[in-house]
Amino acid sequence: MTACIVGWSHGKFGKLDGETSESLIVKAASEAIAHAGLEPRDIDVIYVGNMNGGFVRQEFHSSLPLQTHPDLRFKPSTRVENACATGSAAIHMGLNTLAAKKARFVLVVGVEKMTELNSAQAGDVLIKASYVAEEANIEAGFAGIFGKITSAYFQRYGDKSDALARIAVKAHKNGAKNPFAHFQKEFAYDFCRTPSDKNPFVAGPLKRTDCSPVTDGAAAVVLADVGTALGMKQAIAFRAAQHVNDFLPMSKRDIIKFEGPALAWKQALAEARLDLLDLSFVESHDCFTSAELIEYEAMGLTAPGEGERAIHEGWVERDGKLPVNVSGGLKAKGHPVGATGVSMHVMTAMQLSGTAPGALQLPKATVGGVFNMGGAAVANYVSILEPLR
Ligand code: COA
Repeated sequence: MTACIVGWSHGKFGKLDGETSESLIVKAASEAIAHAGLEPRDIDVIYVGNMNGGFVRQEFHSSLPLQTHPDLRFKPSTRVENACATGSAAIHMGLNTLAAKKARFVLVVGVEKMTELNSAQAGDVLIKASYVAEEANIEAGFAGIFGKITSAYFQRYGDKSDALARIAVKAHKNGAKNPFAHFQKEFAYDFCRTPSDKNPFVAGPLKRTDCSPVTDGAAAVVLADVGTALGMKQAIAFRAAQHVNDFLPMSKRDIIKFEGPALAWKQALAEARLDLLDLSFVESHDCFTSAELIEYEAMGLTAPGEGERAIHEGWVERDGKLPVNVSGGLKAKGHPVGATGVSMHVMTAMQLSGTAPGALQLPKATVGGVFNMGGAAVANYVSILEPLR
């Protein structure tokens, strides 16, 4: 056990007109510091998770948390980027800083303001997280990458559109309970399963309801070493934190195997000395429903090609043997890229501390897993969290 989350904050995700990445950062930072019971002067080091790449003109974000309070002036602060795993990457920088004893308290803010662009323009930004030399000419932005992966999966294992629709239905059912979610309404199975004007094909077999939306939002955590955390009002410990990068070009990999995610899960469960089913729940990176399907296999819940069993047999439902994405996941909660990994850790910390709002709280939440992925299974982060006491 290396470090703990001792404070957190989570703003509403969605199309946040009138907000900027600066305003989102300031709110998230001040609320997380207050939630930890700290003053801004107590923060030693800051990391800002932000992918940007053209979502907003303001590229240089590291000093924006300093706008929160004059006492943050002159604190070392760095922007971190690792595509859609940017939030977890920023948290890992915080964990490394604590392990190196360079800080007592680290503030990590994840933020993305995506909706200044329309979906097609956002796709042009997101496709930069592919291997541009070979993959960037695909249509439909990053959805095109996952359209290709999904087609390859269907070719090997058969058409799994039913499973994908069920995953979307689950996400929206869970998201309807989450006051922070971009979409807070249920979607019917027939709507998700059937192409229509309101649910058109976006890329390959993926329809609109198979995609995470273009979202604005921010979330933040305060990290501390275990000794310090023992004296704090809440402390959620990292029982494991693993990071595995794979080759960027899909042509160098069997892309439907998700080998990087599988290795990250294997290493994290070994570090935590746990089996997958010891976890009470998992927040997993469902940027597309097919990503969640393949992640069931990568985390070891089913054999390769059998991921559909996890959804068809109810294992990953809120009341199943391993609930996946009770928050609504990226699909319903939204996927503001730089905020997503931090959001996943905050959602998990809320569950484990029994403070998730209203109907979102699980009755039993003792150990939680987080899987956050950058690119198409390229930058892979798994955290296993549990209350310190
Ligand atoms: N799921 C469900 N409904 C969605 C949706 C989504 N992902 N995205 C938009 N909608 C809804 C909107 O709320 C709106 O509903 P309304 O008519 O009831 O108001 C309607 O669909 C049209 O919204 P719009 O924004 O015009 O849709 P769009 O076709 O431009 O964008 C996607 C839809 C799927 C193309 C877009 O969300 C997208 O590009 N997602 C992928 C983002 C991505 O690649 N992220 C990185 C992953 S690694």
